[in-house]
Amino acid sequence: MSRFLLVTSDTNFEQRIQSAIAGRIPGSVQTVYNTQLPETPGELLQRVVTELPQVLLLGPGVHPNDALRLASVFDVQHPEISVILVAEANPDLALAAMRAGIRDLLEPQADTDLMRVMLERACHAAESRRRGFVPEEPISSRPSGRVIAVTSPKGGVGKTTIAANLAIGLGRMAPMSTVIVDLDVQFGDVASVLNLVPEHTLSDAVTGAAAQDTMVLKAFLSVHSASIYALCTPLSPAEADRITADQISHMLEQLASEFAFVVIDTAPGLGEHTLAALEAATDVVFLSGMDVPGVRGLRKELDVLSELQMLPGCRHVVVNMADRVSGLSVQDVEATIRTPVDVVVPRSKAVPYSTNKGEPLLQEKSRDKAAKALNGLVARFDPSRTLEPRTAVHRRAVLQ
Ligand SMILES: Nc1ncnc2c1ncn2[C@@H]1O[C@H](COP(=O)(O)OP(=O)(O)OP(=O)(O)O)[C@@H](O)[C@H]1O
Ligand SMILES: [Mg+2]
Repeated sequence: MSRFLLVTSDTNFEQRIQSAIAGRIPGSVQTVYNTQLPETPGELLQRVVTELPQVLLLGPGVHPNDALRLASVFDVQHPEISVILVAEANPDLALAAMRAGIRDLLEPQADTDLMRVMLERACHAAESRRRGFVPEEPISSRPSGRVIAVTSPKGGVGKTTIAANLAIGLGRMAPMSTVIVDLDVQFGDVASVLNLVPEHTLSDAVTGAAAQDTMVLKAFLSVHSASIYALCTPLSPAEADRITADQISHMLEQLASEFAFVVIDTAPGLGEHTLAALEAATDVVFLSGMDVPGVRGLRKELDVLSELQMLPGCRHVVVNMADRVSGLSVQDVEATIRTPVDVVVPRSKAVPYSTNKGEPLLQEKSRDKAAKALNGLVARFDPSRTLEPRTAVHRRAVLQ
């Protein structure tokens, strides 16, 4: 019976672990002599010769970031295995280890008594977790949430602002069951407008274990104080470039199986990632500013999507940054795009202020006119509200 799996190339430490358990704890140690960790638990556990271990010791010598990443995946896929990180302790590492589900931090030079106590504790935790373990259901058999893509042909018209506020507003309706996904993969700024410092990003979410297991994907999301989750973009545009449309489609399907609302912020135009989002969307928020090129661009976008048969049934047309000095009226916009406008968000100083502060307007109660309009947009997704079909008489949206 092998209860301990050790990943290290430090043979001295291996001997000390052996002597800590010898004659005192049942079971034996199997060592993988490598400090280069694999991406997934499966790749590591393939090397186990007998039954699955109860306790996995990572280090000494493994890179702490790799250990934390693998531990997060073990925490979701194999909660019945206790993970111990063997490394020099420091408060930052201890906090990150706790978040990754690591059971204990063991200093490489710890004496054998302390090692034994820790290993025993880890075995007990593993046994009690093993009793409560339930395997995951396939995605296809689970109900699907509402997937809302926010798009516009032009940049800078307020997609990120609208998407972030929509997510915060929906989070009040469905706390911890709303996620915002930043699909402006190269220059996304959802993390900035929500004031988040993500530990994991889109690249982690579409590859490796996260792509195979929705609970791992969920562990890679960032949690926001307004009870919503966020999936932010990688720091480097080059890394973001490697993400394919197929990976995005699969990830959105996974999220829709887990969340009531998936709000997607997109890059301007109809790039491959945005098309993948539109394909997955149950609802699209089409956005335009109150300027002739922007409105004409929206008309073209609607035409192209109609030709591609990608216009979803639930469309929400939003005019943002509306004011009375642009020379265009809401009626002019409707005449150009040949579609009614559903929500008009006025230009307001409170919006850039909230962007710069990293707190979307709807995060706090606000009497601002833009907040009122944004709440109106959120209300369109309230399941208790029955949406009029688009053929019904449309109540004209007005600039407040
Ligand atoms: N209703 C509004 N009134 C005033 N300013 C606004 C309004 N909506 C958005 N803004 C401001 O406009 C700027 C651009 O908004 P945002 O980043 O949301 O646009 P975007 O469409 O996501 O841009 P990009 O295409 O570059 O991603 C931000 O500084 C934001 O605060
Ligand atoms: Mg944006």
